[in-house]
Amino acid sequence: MELFGSISRVKGELEFKGDKSISHRAVIFASMAKGKSYIHNLSISEDVHSSRSVFQALGVDISLSENTWQISGKGYKGFTPPTGNLDSGNSGTTARLMSGLLINQKFKSTIIGDESLSKRPMKRIIDPLRLMGGRLLPTNDNFLPMTITPSDQLKPITYTLPIASAQIKSAVALSALHFDDETTIIETFPSRNHTELMLGLSVTKENDGTFIRVSKKNYPLPFEMTVPGDVSSAAFFIVLALILPDSELLIKNISLNPERSHYITLLKQMGGDIEIQETKESLGESIGNVRVRSSKLRNIVIPAASVPLIIDEIPILSICGIFAENDFEIFNAKELRVKESDRITAMVHNLRLAGLETEEFPDGFAIREGMPNKPILQAFESFGDHRIAMSFAVLSCIFADGGKVNNFSCANISNPEFIKQLNSIRG
Ligand code: S3P
Repeated sequence: MELFGSISRVKGELEFKGDKSISHRAVIFASMAKGKSYIHNLSISEDVHSSRSVFQALGVDISLSENTWQISGKGYKGFTPPTGNLDSGNSGTTARLMSGLLINQKFKSTIIGDESLSKRPMKRIIDPLRLMGGRLLPTNDNFLPMTITPSDQLKPITYTLPIASAQIKSAVALSALHFDDETTIIETFPSRNHTELMLGLSVTKENDGTFIRVSKKNYPLPFEMTVPGDVSSAAFFIVLALILPDSELLIKNISLNPERSHYITLLKQMGGDIEIQETKESLGESIGNVRVRSSKLRNIVIPAASVPLIIDEIPILSICGIFAENDFEIFNAKELRVKESDRITAMVHNLRLAGLETEEFPDGFAIREGMPNKPILQAFESFGDHRIAMSFAVLSCIFADGGKVNNFSCANISNPEFIKQLNSIRG
């Protein structure tokens, strides 16, 4: 259990290690490319460690010198058969994206994950990968462990995503890199676009949605990149600076990919005093600085189309919503139920512990206007979910007596530096 003391204001500068989603892809694409790639500022999260160790198990040489990872990729279908299971740990991105690669290898493999990942749905990637001819055998039709056997029936497809999910889109795209003929992925609601940007895929907006075309000509070549700071990790600190009085933070070199920093756009619409300054670009990904100051906020209606773009930030946005005028409400977000925890149940449970009037819906939740009105005696539950843990660490800091979060170490899944960063900005 971790105790978070009260904080009256925050001041200073923060920089974040590389964005988790971009880091996963940097490791995957560098492992696929034949030859050496150099990646600066890779995420130090446990999730990206899972991706690295899966590729090491497939024979890829990966080493760190100073702040640069050197990855000696194996080239097209060049991975070596693993001697054991491929352990994705807590990382859905690792398990799902790997599946698209593994169906195209000449050896059998089994993907496993921790207790949380073993409860998360895999059918969403199994369905399109089977349409491509992949041979995947999950547990109980939907779950890890999942065994993948070589197939001689593999082919490109045209696939309309049934769920707005970058993980499904990327699993299909990674398989599609193995065919001369084009695979077309159609998405009707946008989701994060790192795979498209980093592989330089053809993306066209047409009447029926966005068409993403992928073939072997997009197979990655060795590269060098600087991973922008993790904008999702920054969200916890941006919210803290907004809701605490007399606060100001400068966050340097974070990802300003519009499909990831969309939560900042919404916070500005809520009245947030946030200045954005774009500075540079690396492999299609834009990087910049964000200055944030204490603000008077009001809750807004969050459109359905925004939800996939803020899916990881909804827990901390809802904490922000407690301190804004009007009720915080989120709908169209049933995907929250299949994240590292059921994030709707987890949020509602903890918000009620804080004495807040909260309503739960199948696809969202609402927090009725009004500040927590009783001392928090019990510790908040992290549910083993990093984003729930950090959201309630932020809320704890607001209370005069602070608060406690059980099993806070799960924050290492995305940001092992959270506590150090929090201590460095106490005003
Ligand atoms: C991710 C995509 C999102 C997100 C996850 C990381 C990615 O999942 O929640 O944390 O890196 O592709 P979905 O796209 O499946 O919603």
